[in-house]
Amino acid sequence: MELTRLRGFRDLIAADARAMSLVEERARAIFDRYSIKEIRIPVLERAQLYQRSSGETSDVVEKQMYTFTDRDEGETVVAIRPEGTPGVVRAYIEAGLDRTDPEQRFFYSGPMFRRERPQKGRYRQFYQFGVEVFGRQDAACDAELLIMIDELCRDLKVPFTMEINSIGDQKCRPAFREALVKWGRAHWDELDEDCHNRIDRNPLRLLDCKRDAKVTESAPNSLDFLCDECRAHFDIVKELLTAASVQYVVNPRMVRGLDYYTRTAFEVMAGGLGAQSTVVAGGRYDGLVETMGGAAVAGIGFAIGVDRMALALEAAGELPTVTPDAAIISMGAAATRHAVVVARSLRGANLNIEMLSPERKMKTLLARASKIGARFAVIIGDDELARGVVQLRDLKQSTQREVGEAEAAALIAGARG
Ligand code: HAM
Repeated sequence: MELTRLRGFRDLIAADARAMSLVEERARAIFDRYSIKEIRIPVLERAQLYQRSSGETSDVVEKQMYTFTDRDEGETVVAIRPEGTPGVVRAYIEAGLDRTDPEQRFFYSGPMFRRERPQKGRYRQFYQFGVEVFGRQDAACDAELLIMIDELCRDLKVPFTMEINSIGDQKCRPAFREALVKWGRAHWDELDEDCHNRIDRNPLRLLDCKRDAKVTESAPNSLDFLCDECRAHFDIVKELLTAASVQYVVNPRMVRGLDYYTRTAFEVMAGGLGAQSTVVAGGRYDGLVETMGGAAVAGIGFAIGVDRMALALEAAGELPTVTPDAAIISMGAAATRHAVVVARSLRGANLNIEMLSPERKMKTLLARASKIGARFAVIIGDDELARGVVQLRDLKQSTQREVGEAEAAALIAGARG
């Protein structure tokens, strides 16, 4: 086969796709309870949108965006979205909500695209389920989102750790940045080329220098530089999390890879994933709406990495398998026509039914019914059709009995456990 899929792009087939949907369904159910409304935004936006928000010097914008020039749009460079936040902020401003009704909470889901080096848990097309909240600058909002994330991870039964930090705001961050630049220059020889570039361009990311984690141990940390307001904000977040029995670790070296963050930043790591273990990440971005041309409205949000959360679910053995309650086997044209009616009525009783191809031998069909994990086979031939009965075969116990159609439904439902 020549036309294979591209590197870093995945086909998600059956159980793998189901795991992704399950994460999305559970998240959606919880977000509903927090009164978060859905928003759907385009996959294609102006590349500039990301340059202005995610940051020119962020890896996402500098190295990972898929861009092309769209002739229809007057030679505009467009980008396939690498993340959801900038598009949601743009939509929020474009709808005039920043001025007319600034307090909003949205969730979104869908594929994102980054040209990253593929590995387990890191793909070039991946899915995010994200939340963005606008118009709330109080620490209670930060805590509420973290409590919600905690609830979701518990609900999915994925073992996880939550790390939080505060990276200050435009008032206190410059001093922290300056200290990092100074530290970077003093430790020049211990840092690699990538990090040398960060010293001037994006000093906060010095804390993400990967060559030798020990090197950054001596680097300044953000908490030592917080102004009184940022410190008080962070203290309330921690207090509220403790009061809600949410377990968290303060990691003063955590900085996020995107430029818009202020104050609270957080990441949730799950077990069983190897190097790419961050399943949820986000933080506050109080200046972003204004930077992008809107009113001075606060913002905070996060995104669940659905692919990684699905892998974590699998690793934790928490992926429920959905198997049919019964497979329907019919013999002969008339019986097959009737089998369609029987299948419909069984499904009407809320049972999961799979009809098997009628064009095979009984032995093959019974083997197929077992293979797909059906507990029962409902067998209908001309004789059964004439008498209004079915043969109900329990594939687990290898027993078979003749029953009426209504009774078959009751027996199958009763075996569900
Ligand atoms: P992010 O940390 O770039 O933040 O991505 C959030 C999550 O998406 C990551 O923690 C990870 O689970 C998943 N993810 C990112 N890149 C990949 C990839 N290549 N393959 C698989 N999964 C990936 C953001 O995107 C922010 N927009 C989050 C946010 C929302 N902050 C505020 N609001």
